[in-house]
Parts: sequence; C-alpha cells; structure tokens
Amino acid sequence: MSNPGKPLTVREILRRTVGYFQGKGVSEPRASAEVLLAHTLGLSRLNLYLKHDQPLSPEELSRFRELVKRRAAGEPVAYITGHKEFWSLDFKVTPAVLIPRPETEVLVEAVLEVMRESGQESPAKNRKPETKNRVWGLEIGVGSGAVVTVLARELPHINWIGADLSRPALKVARLNAWRHDAAGRIAFVQTDLFAGFKAEPRFALIVANLPYVAEPEWQTLSRDVRLYEPKEALVGGIDGLALLKPMAQGAHRYLVPGGWLALEMGPGQAEVILDLLDKSAAYDHVEAVKDYQGINRVVRARRRLA
Ligand SMILES: C[S@@+](CC[C@H](N)C(=O)[O-])C[C@H]1O[C@@H](n2cnc3c(N)ncnc32)[C@H](O)[C@@H]1O
Repeated sequence: MSNPGKPLTVREILRRTVGYFQGKGVSEPRASAEVLLAHTLGLSRLNLYLKHDQPLSPEELSRFRELVKRRAAGEPVAYITGHKEFWSLDFKVTPAVLIPRPETEVLVEAVLEVMRESGQESPAKNRKPETKNRVWGLEIGVGSGAVVTVLARELPHINWIGADLSRPALKVARLNAWRHDAAGRIAFVQTDLFAGFKAEPRFALIVANLPYVAEPEWQTLSRDVRLYEPKEALVGGIDGLALLKPMAQGAHRYLVPGGWLALEMGPGQAEVILDLLDKSAAYDHVEAVKDYQGINRVVRARRRLA
C-alpha cells in the first residue's frame, strides 16, 4: 500500500487492501477491508460508498494500516473494531467473549416462536415486568450478553438471569445490557451451569448456547478462531457434549410446568440431545429447529404440565 505522492481515495485504498488481504488468505477480504476502513473514518459501510472519491489524510491512512496489519495476522474484525452486530443491534465485544454468530439468531427465533405460539409474547414491547407474579428466564453462558439482551428486549414482561462461568465475560454482558436499555431486567451471576441455583421450578425459559465444539475438532477451526477467540467459550470436552448433556439432563428441575428449554448445538449433536430429552419423562414436547443451512441447530423442549 505505498503512496507515491497522490493522496489515496477510499475507492483506491479499498481496492489495494482487498488485493492485499486476498494475498494473505484473509477470509471475507472485501467485508474486512470495508468494515475496517469505515471504522477508521467513523463512517457506516454505506457511507463509505457515498465517499468513494474522498482522499484519506496521512493520519487516517496510518491508523488504517495498523488495523490492516492486525487483520492480516488473523485477528477477527470484531475484536479490532470492538463491535459486532447481532439481531440488528450493535454489541461490544472483547477477546474475553465469543463473537456472536449469525446462527445464534436461530436460538433467539426458536424461543420467540414458542412464546408467540403460547401467547406469552408481550404485545406491548415496552411493558414493564410486574413486580408480583414475575416470570423468570435464564440464559446460561451469556458471553457478550447478546442473546439475553435481545430476549429481554423482545420479551419485556420477563425478568432474566444471565449466567456465565467467566467473570470478564459477565462484565461485557452487563455493559451490553446497559447499552441496550435492558440492564434493569437482567441480573448477571457467575456460576458453573446450575451450581448457583436452588433446584426448584422457577424459570419459564432456560436458554443456552454453551461450548459444543469437540476437542479434536478445535485444531480444524480457522486460525482466526483458534488464535483469538476464548477456547473455553467454544470447546465442550472430547465429544463437544460435556455441557450440553448435563443441561439436557438437569434443566427440568429448574423449569416451571409448561416452561421451555432451548439449547444451541453443532452438526450431529441434536440426535443425542433429542434422545436424552425424549427418554426423560420431564418433557411433553421435544423438537429440533434447523438453521438456514438445514442443520439441526437448536433443540427445544417443553416441561410437562403435570
Ligand atoms: C459459545 S459461548 C456463547 C456466548 C453467547 N451466549 C453467544 O451466544 O454469543 C459459551 C459461553 O458459555 C460460558 N461457559 C462455559 N462453560 C460454562 C459453565 N460450565 N457454566 C456457565 N457458563 C459457561 C463461556 O464462558 C462462554 O461465555
């Protein structure tokens, strides 16, 4: 990206950066270049296009080059900018948390769908939860807090507990809940799965996207993931089921009758979890929900009424 005198325009710098990223094997080279340049200039990606002929100042160029170097070394764009979009909302992310994935929106949809169908989705989005007869939801493994924040916004009559084993992750989750005006309805707690909860039927919803990558599979993930994302947020033991199985076996103790459990998982895992839930006498409705690639991504189950 040398500059032989003439100031480089947005268009030209993008063209060169995309070529540079391609040469370095960076995934999504165009998107990476656009997001990083937009971040440098304090613009949206759309506005970048409206300013295609704008020249970059030497100071802007030097800041951009620093970000390009980091991306070329494998650092994910979201950690460089500190932001990731989920459910059309902007979430802060740090290396302490997993970058929210688009497929996790399927988990959110799977929960909202059962709430809609059972008439429990509040029609008044800004309705405050009642202080008496509160309905409670629980997310275990909140990470950045994207899922619990979206659910708290979409289901405002529910009070939430957002749990995680990682204290640094809880800090990020709290910040995101606050940024999206949901902090008043989410209590964040540090716990190992259900260890911090009394075994009593309390929750109308239990939601989790826990680590589900099998240890041997970790080595096959992209360099960007392996070098930069927290392994403890991704790997779930030797078969990837070390946390999903206890969730499937233990969650019913904490669900009210008619309450729903929704778990995100990886390819090939739904069959195992469906089988565990089916065999349990605790649920009267058990099903898998596919993602946009046709993979069983979420398993949801309704706690038997009586
Ligand atoms: C795959 S990330 C999901 C983060 C976020 N919910 C999302 O969907 O983007 C899994 C999260 O579970 C947390 N976690 C891992 N083991 C846990 C455990 N035993 N108890 C509670 N949380 C755990 C990790 O710290 C991490 O934040």
